[in-house]
Amino acid sequence: ESKEALRVMISGAPASGKGTQCHLIANKYGLVHVAAGDLLRAEIATGSQNGMRAKEYMEKGQLVPDEIVVMMVKERLLKPDSRQNGWLLDGYPRSLSQATALKKLEFEPDIFILLEVSEDILVERVVGRRLDPVTGKIYHLKYSPPETEEIAARLTQRFDDTEEKVKLRLNTHHQNVEAVLSMYKDITIKINGNVSKEEVFTQIDSALSSLLGQRKAASGSV
Ligand code: AP5
Repeated sequence: ESKEALRVMISGAPASGKGTQCHLIANKYGLVHVAAGDLLRAEIATGSQNGMRAKEYMEKGQLVPDEIVVMMVKERLLKPDSRQNGWLLDGYPRSLSQATALKKLEFEPDIFILLEVSEDILVERVVGRRLDPVTGKIYHLKYSPPETEEIAARLTQRFDDTEEKVKLRLNTHHQNVEAVLSMYKDITIKINGNVSKEEVFTQIDSALSSLLGQRKAASGSV
């Protein structure tokens, strides 16, 4: 395992901008983006038993059972690219039991990023979100509209991106977030996620580069 590799967790309510920021972070820092929700949607797409079971929970805005999620995330983190380049864990852990499972497997983050966004903004972000199935890029009809007519015509919407479903997802988030935060409070940085995606990234970028700077200084002094 590379000593230099950064290990980052990012957390926040549904549609707080985790996926958007992860694309920017992964691009600049070369980390492997591991998104629990994306792993689950890929499993659903295969039509497997686990995928079908996961979808039942996701449609209700509830957490998918640990026996499905923990194994998927663990397998992804154990792949050579994550070990070598470092990882950026998005949407995991979402409960105390997931955090504990990760700790037992000795996956410890260097930093825990918490995106704070007010509730009315979250709902607006959810209902306007669209995805490009070809590139995987995340759009928003108002805040990040597609660049061309061709892209606009192929955009899709997630099955859980309705106002009704996001309320359920928010409830689940509120029930679990405190327990997770308490485990990482010593390494947590809170980011104002209400501003533009560029302004959010500026805050994250400065936290990550100062972390890397501290490390360099520490390794140079021994
Ligand atoms: P998951 O896919 O992780 O969904 P989520 O947590 O609800 O988060 P989202 O993907 O909705 O939002 P995001 O924060 O990535 O925001 P984005 O960048 O897209 O999980 C889905 C389900 O899977 C869960 O409900 C659960 O059932 C299950 N699951 C997942 N992980 C699990 C786990 N660990 N255990 C058990 N079950 C699990 O941005 C949103 C929109 O806003 C976009 O349109 C974007 O363009 C726009 N936007 C982003 N930033 C800005 C900005 N700064 N200004 C304006 N617009 C912005």
